[in-house]
Amino acid sequence: MELEVFVEKILRVQPNVKRFSLLVRASNNQAATQRFREEVIKKDIFRILRNNLGANLESFIFERVTPISGDISYENFGIKDSILIEEMWKDIDIVLNSAATTNFDERAKLYGWPNTYVYTKALGEMLLEQFHQNLPLAIVRPTMVTSTYKEPFSGWIEGARTIDGVITAFGKGRLKSFLGHPNSILDVIPADMVVNSIIMAMVTHANKSSQIIFHVGSSLRNPMKLPSLSDLISLYFTQNPWIDRNGKSIKVSKLIVFSNIATFQAYMAIRYKLPLKVLWLANLMLCQYYREIRINLNRKVRVVMRMVDLYKPYAFFTGSFDDSNTENLRVAIRESDVDVNLFYFDPRCIDWEDYIMNTHIPGLTKYSMKP
Ligand SMILES: NC(=O)c1ccc[n+]([C@@H]2O[C@H](COP(=O)([O-])OP(=O)(O)OC[C@H]3O[C@@H](n4cnc5c(N)ncnc54)[C@H](OP(=O)(O)O)[C@@H]3O)[C@@H](O)[C@H]2O)c1
Repeated sequence: MELEVFVEKILRVQPNVKRFSLLVRASNNQAATQRFREEVIKKDIFRILRNNLGANLESFIFERVTPISGDISYENFGIKDSILIEEMWKDIDIVLNSAATTNFDERAKLYGWPNTYVYTKALGEMLLEQFHQNLPLAIVRPTMVTSTYKEPFSGWIEGARTIDGVITAFGKGRLKSFLGHPNSILDVIPADMVVNSIIMAMVTHANKSSQIIFHVGSSLRNPMKLPSLSDLISLYFTQNPWIDRNGKSIKVSKLIVFSNIATFQAYMAIRYKLPLKVLWLANLMLCQYYREIRINLNRKVRVVMRMVDLYKPYAFFTGSFDDSNTENLRVAIRESDVDVNLFYFDPRCIDWEDYIMNTHIPGLTKYSMKP
């Protein structure tokens, strides 16, 4: 998702950019180009450029962007063409990596990490720290990335990760309760602000041989509390019910947020596990008469338990992230001749209620929630 926002922004605001070599997992460069065409250019995020350039959009993009088939987990990114490698060594000024396996897998718990995602992120950073030598290294660590705040238009998003998994499951009536500390701060940051901070980090750090970490989030400067989000989600889907694939609107009641695991487990036992046992018995006696009902209820329980398990480490996190380096970057930019209205990434300007109700959830339901 971030990649599309980044590519679009550069092409729109800096059409004089010389060249992007874009690494895409594909069998060859032609297939990489095809993937880029189908999976990136066709997306709505290019709407503004498409409106401006019409039929010239593709030629405009391909004059600047070269998709290259590769895979970052191999030596030389899996690129076999030695001439191309040579050219890339010579021509490339800045390397931006945003590739990641964003799946959560719990094997990492064996090593004391909540999931493989954060574990492998930490390993990746350690490798970079060890091997970057005197090359400038800027690590940007966004918190949970949400839909675009302003550019190229507000509300663009792809996929439903982190809080969005909870929002979509609630809207679809699959999730009625969740866990969370009343003081938990939900650290989210819109995708366009992340991309602007990446661009500014690149520009300001390009000639320094040191390493720097930028935390890009909102918890310190403009915190949003978990209870406000759950109220807003409940309000949104009460006012704008989700329509399922049969055209039926899904009725929701207020999302129940439990502040400790014991009450949550008691609720789950009474609300779901007991009825599941009763249905199991009834099915046994009545030749599986309630089979479908039991399957559906079982599915709901599994969705909730899986989400709770994944997000438990975050739902009870009450800290906030120190973004001093990012704040210093904002100050430096304000004092420079960079247009801060074009490269905004200060979360203090966000009115969370307005953003969640009028930008984020509408964007999520438009782009990421499938019936
Ligand atoms: N979304 C968030 O809330 C969030 C928050 C903090 C940080 N981030 C970070 O931001 C970056 C982008 O996240 P995203 O949400 O945009 O994720 P995404 O949509 O899943 O994009 C990840 C991309 O990485 C590519 N990739 C994975 N393994 C690769 C490999 N070995 N070689 C080449 N490409 C590979 C994937 O390619 P395929 O299409 O071939 O699978 C995919 O296009 C990631 O580093 C992520 O950790 C995201």
